[in-house]
Order: sequence, then structure tokens, then C-alpha cells
Amino acid sequence: MDEHLSVGRVAQLAGVSVRTLHHYDEVGLLEPSTRTAAGHRAYSAGDVERLREVLAYRRLGFGLREIADLVDDPATDAVAHLCRLRGLLMDQRDRAAATVAAIDRELEALAMGTRTTPEEQLKVFGAQLHDAIGPAYRATRRTEPRIAARIWDALGDARTVLNVGAGTGSYEPPDRDVTAVEPSAVMRAQRPPGAAPCVAAAAESLPFADQSFDAAMAVSTVHHWPDPIAGLREMRRVARRVVVFTYDAADTGWRQRFWLTRDYLPEFADLLVGWPSLAEPTRAIGGRAEPVLVPWDCADGFFEAHWRRPEAYLDEHVRRAVSVWTRVGPQAEQRAISTLREDLSSGRWVGRNRNLVALDTAELGLRLLVA
Ligand SMILES: C[S@@+](CC[C@H](N)C(=O)[O-])C[C@H]1O[C@@H](n2cnc3c(N)ncnc32)[C@H](O)[C@@H]1O
Repeated sequence: MDEHLSVGRVAQLAGVSVRTLHHYDEVGLLEPSTRTAAGHRAYSAGDVERLREVLAYRRLGFGLREIADLVDDPATDAVAHLCRLRGLLMDQRDRAAATVAAIDRELEALAMGTRTTPEEQLKVFGAQLHDAIGPAYRATRRTEPRIAARIWDALGDARTVLNVGAGTGSYEPPDRDVTAVEPSAVMRAQRPPGAAPCVAAAAESLPFADQSFDAAMAVSTVHHWPDPIAGLREMRRVARRVVVFTYDAADTGWRQRFWLTRDYLPEFADLLVGWPSLAEPTRAIGGRAEPVLVPWDCADGFFEAHWRRPEAYLDEHVRRAVSVWTRVGPQAEQRAISTLREDLSSGRWVGRNRNLVALDTAELGLRLLVA
């Protein structure tokens, strides 16, 4: 019994009341794995680990029901839970830093005898009301019809389609029998009503028999997988055709062409260290890679989407829906954005990127792998 902690001790260590722990037990969120001979609750190391996750999600503002879904997610192991929590907490920290900066600006304005406009005031505090990932993702990450047409065309005559790393459901073809796979409960919760059924699982271990789908697709997700090659092999196993929309991480050419990574965010290169070259994923599915050009008015707000609309990157919502900005850290993000802001107002950005105005599409390393 000595490896178990009493309810009082756990409450004391975690800084919550015994009553809270009793409530978590009553609603099935955290049932201690055993009881003492006298019938008192006793918590194991595993129970304490679960409590840590529950409390972290509580701190992020999730409701108890949502937390139950998150911590019970069968597709998410301890490392994935910690990574997700870390991402959400960093996002919250960034938002707090942005709010502090806005308050400082307002204090400065008041000290100078000027006032910020009602729009400016509400913009800052309104942003805080949003959940860390949710509304930002659905607001800016939409299906881009020209890219969708390429993906759907590559699916050929497939009737049954598995969408791996499906997120909120962008690019799911409306005229086929789609099954979605998405490990994140936060993302699953944002799928619109009527979206294809979604299974909680990860690409690396798809819970389906061999060849059970005509096709499997994965869009803007492979670079999030802990083991992309294993995930792609799984797609190959469960489907007769595989279509993957991703980017060529090994080609430094497009990173030099793309002013955002070249002039403002060189830290992007660090995110690609250890990432397999395009040849490996292509081999894993036994297919070919085709370039996908990014239209200047791309509707899907992925990282490269605004190459001809630089002002878009100044918008916090645009950045929050793209993991790159969280992954490079708040310092790099703030430096990149304030330099971009200065260059846009001084005309320096236009001076350097004049040639872009005449282009309707750009080759920025995006690829469609088809097998
Ligand atoms: C940028 S979103 C793309 C979502 C969607 N495919 C789209 O185009 O909007 C990346 C998605 O990959 C999911 N993901 C992360 N790790 C995964 C894994 N191991 N297996 C499958 N999906 C994963 C994330 O939860 C997230 O929903």
C-alpha cells in the first residue's frame, strides 16, 4: 500500500481541495485505483499522472467533460499528452504576452494623453476569449478549391476514402464515403455537424484491416507525425491508393525564395532538422511527387499561403492557426513580425519583393505524393 498516496496528501501536493478530488471520482474523471482497508481513497502513480493532465487542462480552461475526452483518448500516449499540453500552454503564454504588450501600449498612449480606439481595445481582449487552437483554426484553415481539385483528382475513382490527420475536415471529398482519423480531441471537437465519422487514432497505428479503403489521403499533417514513415506505410497497408499533400523539407531553394523564411524567420530551418527528405516518404508509399503551386489568393491559411499578401502575417489569428509560429517560440515570432511590420510601412518589403506582384502562383515546395 505504501506506493499509494492518500486523498489528503494528493490534495495537498496538487493544491486542490479533498472535495474536488471526491468530485472528480464521483463524475468518473479520476477514480483512485484502490481503497485502503478502512475504505479511504488511495492514489497510485498512474492516478497522479492522470491528475496532472486533468489539472493542466483545467488551467487551460477546458470543461470537465472535454477533459474526460482528452485524457481518455486511446490514441494519445503520455508523450503525446505532454506535447499537446506543452503546445497549448505555450500558446496561452504567447497570448498573455501579447495582451501584456497591448496593455503597455495602452498605458503609453494614456501617458502621452492619447487614447486607443474602441476597436483596438476590443481586438486585444477579444482574442483572449478564444480557445487556444479552436476558432483560429476553423476561421483561417479552409479548403482551397484549386488544391482540393488536385487531391480529389488524384483519388481517382475511389469510393471509400480514409482521411488521416483529418483535423476539422478540410479537403474531405463531399461525394465519397469518407472515414476520418484524428488523434486530437481538440480538433475532433471542432469538426462541423454532418462531417464524416471520425475515429480517434494516430497514423502510425491505423485500426483498420489491410486494404480496407479504396484510397487514403493525408493533407498538411505528415510533418506533425512522430514517425511519418511508419504512418505512410500504414496508409499504404490499409488502402489501395495513397494521396499525400506535404512539402519538400530538404529543398532549401523554396525557403530562399520565400521572403518570410529568408528575411524574417530563419528559425524555420531549425524545425526541419532530422526531417526526412521527400524521397523517403515517396518511397514509403511507392509513388511519385508532383509540385503544387500556391495561388496568390489561397483560401487555406497554411504557412506559405500569404506569400503575396504579407499584411496577413501581422494578424494574430492567421499565425495562431499555423503550428510553425508556436514552434519557433514567442521571441522569434515577435521579432519576425515587428520587423515585417516596419518593412511594410517603410516600403522596404515592397522594394525587395516587387517581382511577386506580377505572379499568380508560387512554387514554395508543396508537393502531392501519389501512389
Ligand atoms: C495542420 S492539421 C491538418 C488538418 C487537416 N488535414 C487539414 O488539412 O486542415 C494537422 C493535423 O494532424 C494531426 N496529427 C498530429 N499527429 C498525428 C498523427 N500521429 N497521426 C495522425 N494525425 C496526426 C493533428 O492533430 C492535426 O489535426
